[in-house]
Amino acid sequence: MSIRHFINLPDICADELKGIIKHAHKLKAEKFDPPQIMAGLSLAMVFDKRSTRTRMSFEIGMKQLGGHTIVMGMGEMQIAGAESIEDTGAVLSRYVDAVMLRMSDHANMEELARNTTIPVINGMTNDSHPCQIMADIMTIEENIGDLKGKKIAWFGDYNNVCKTFEQAAPIWDFELAISTPEDLAPTSTGDKVTYYADAKEAAKNADVIVTDTWISMGEEGKSIDKFMPYQVNSDLMACANDGAIFMHCMPIHKNEEVTPEVLKSPACVIYDEAENRLHAQKAILAWSMLK
Ligand code: CP
Repeated sequence: MSIRHFINLPDICADELKGIIKHAHKLKAEKFDPPQIMAGLSLAMVFDKRSTRTRMSFEIGMKQLGGHTIVMGMGEMQIAGAESIEDTGAVLSRYVDAVMLRMSDHANMEELARNTTIPVINGMTNDSHPCQIMADIMTIEENIGDLKGKKIAWFGDYNNVCKTFEQAAPIWDFELAISTPEDLAPTSTGDKVTYYADAKEAAKNADVIVTDTWISMGEEGKSIDKFMPYQVNSDLMACANDGAIFMHCMPIHKNEEVTPEVLKSPACVIYDEAENRLHAQKAILAWSMLK
């Protein structure tokens, strides 16, 4: 059987992804008595960028399930010098049972996966953030039920999280409205995805309003003026359906992509979303490592 890498959502069949989410809900229900399914197994976690949620949720999740972890900054590893991706992958495969990486270059992560005999889990690249989207799907299901036919509206930057929502839309059969400055508009939109230059048009009839920082890690110093029409504020939330929820994968830049009023409103589910990283991560680990 092939190795179960968790790198690209479209590479995994829809039923498997839905099964992971179902397992995540179960693991959340069992959070005070977690099954010891990772006993004797080890996860390496490697980061080339800072992290709070990804690092903590994978580490705590693995330990709650009875497993072990080792965390390293990529800059501390020989791969930051002259060691090849090929050798790094082969050596990691002799020490641990899976590796989760935050690795900016998506192609490098895929190359690493071609050189391991253990699962590689994508803890975020510049192109995608599938673990975040799994937690987001779980959070939406908890708050408003089945995603089929729902409308999710994204505002701000067309970044890695937005691109992963695009990949998720046909899998979970929801409509995705993307509203960004026109120079950042997707060059082509996939099935279920529509671009709107006008933020209020995008928010109309939405069940979920979602945004992210306008300045991703590594983009510090860029101008944010052009993003202001895409700020999530009370006026924009008023365009959405009654009962619509507000989501943000965090960290938040208050008064930039979202206002304090929205963050304090009952629509805001950001801490459920952050907690669900833990439960979704555990289910992803189980899918990748226990087959
Ligand atoms: N949302 C997210 O990935 O958070 P961290 O950068 O803190 O891991």
